[in-house]
Amino acid sequence: MKRIVIFASGSGSNAENIISFFSDNPKVTVAAVLTNKKSAKVLERCERLGVPAFYFNKSAFKSSDTVLHFLQGLNTDLIVLAGFLWRIPSNLIDAFPNKIINIHPALLPKYGGKGMYGDSVHQAVKENKEVETGITIHYVNENYDEGAIILQAKTKIEPTDDTAEIAQKVHQLEYEHFPKVIEKLLS
Ligand code: GAR
Repeated sequence: MKRIVIFASGSGSNAENIISFFSDNPKVTVAAVLTNKKSAKVLERCERLGVPAFYFNKSAFKSSDTVLHFLQGLNTDLIVLAGFLWRIPSNLIDAFPNKIINIHPALLPKYGGKGMYGDSVHQAVKENKEVETGITIHYVNENYDEGAIILQAKTKIEPTDDTAEIAQKVHQLEYEHFPKVIEKLLS
């Protein structure tokens, strides 16, 4: 059995989609969800779905091996960042080479980097009058949004689309592609 651990900081709709996608899969399971936010909605989703969820604070994450040891204890095969806000520290990058992936709600290298998260990305896309946007699934290194790209998918933006509509189009692409990419990487 291959074991995924998802990191999420917010709503967790991608986490839920991934958990549902693999719920009947005999070869892949979501072993746990980790969050850096005690109030994150993803925690409610995990409770409803019966997936173990855990909170860690900044010092446990950045200045200790607590999270590393926790992930090793879970026999983690793949770490999936699904709306996770913090940069991944080097102890995790070194321990899980090419085993940490992220989804970004834009076509990197555009609209990436620190502070580019969720709706702030869609707002920037709208302000710049882009005619298309999309998703980027990529390996994670120590810099925000810079690891090797695994998959990109695009969607058109109508001039009348507001930020919420752009976000919805991007979420649809995320729900469609992210679980399939994870499945492929684990096969
Ligand atoms: C997703 O759109 C994801 O691509 C984005 O946060 C959203 C989380 O939604 N991630 C980033 O912006 C990373 N820089 P969710 O919590 O509903 O899955």
